Amino acid sequence: MVQPSTSAYLLGGLLGLFLLVPVQMTQTPASMCNPLKTLNESLSHRRRYMKHNFPINYSIRVHHNEIFKVSSIGKMKLLVEGLDELVLQRLWFQVNQGVLKKIIRVLPERHPSRPYTAQLESRFRDLEGVFVHSHPAEVFQQELPETIQDTWDHLTEEPDRVPPSSWRYASPKTLLDNLSHTMHCLFRECFASTEEQQDYCGVSRRRKRRKKDLKLKS
Ligand SMILES: *[C@@H]1O[C@H](CO)[C@@H](O)[C@H](O)[C@H]1NC(C)=O
Ligand SMILES: *[C@@H]1O[C@H](CO)[C@@H](O)[C@H](O)[C@H]1NC(C)=O
Ligand SMILES: *[C@@H]1O[C@H](CO)[C@@H](O)[C@H](O)[C@H]1NC(C)=O
Repeated sequence: MVQPSTSAYLLGGLLGLFLLVPVQMTQTPASMCNPLKTLNESLSHRRRYMKHNFPINYSIRVHHNEIFKVSSIGKMKLLVEGLDELVLQRLWFQVNQGVLKKIIRVLPERHPSRPYTAQLESRFRDLEGVFVHSHPAEVFQQELPETIQDTWDHLTEEPDRVPPSSWRYASPKTLLDNLSHTMHCLFRECFASTEEQQDYCGVSRRRKRRKKDLKLKS
């Protein structure tokens, strides 16, 4: 027979676990910093490969949700109260995986930007691998807030089911600009020390540590 105190203890332990997960998630795991810096290094050549090697004003068709800017992050935070940054990081991977795929798709085999883009995508995948491995699997099974889930569903929709009004045209260079800016915002712990105090997330954001308090109470 389980003593009441034992079950209370077990329950407390379980609750503690659930409360702990999101708290840890707000930090970028240190293991991500090297692959992030490697990707950042690739991105530093984007003007040359994503602008100079393309016709003037060249643009590709993307879903409007694939225009993922620093301001989009701000909007989502306003829409979803207490939005976990990990959710935004997951969305960032989903969005940019699609963006990179679309850029590669328009590049002929012998295009001078092809090797660059392939390397960029491979570094992006490496980073995603580290991201997935540095978080417990349950984190990726957590239900997403409704607004985020909607966005996610649109991103994974079959292209011929996407209403024409949802498409946008954007140049590969601006898409990568935004990939880079949002990366510095969402994974800022890995960039903070080397970059001059530029705040990629826009307004200074010292969030109240509500979750930390919760954890202390449990
Ligand atoms: C990221 O790349 C930029 C160049 O685009 C560079 O100035 C900066 O130092 C890099 N940051 C890190 C942390 O490697
Ligand atoms: C490129 O776009 C700009 C601004 O939309 C326009 O002024 C310019 O004429 C365009 N250039 C070409 C070559 O289409
Ligand atoms: C990228 O972001 C900048 C500002 O952050 C914006 O002006 C531009 O339209 C964006 N472009 C795309 C394709 O997302």
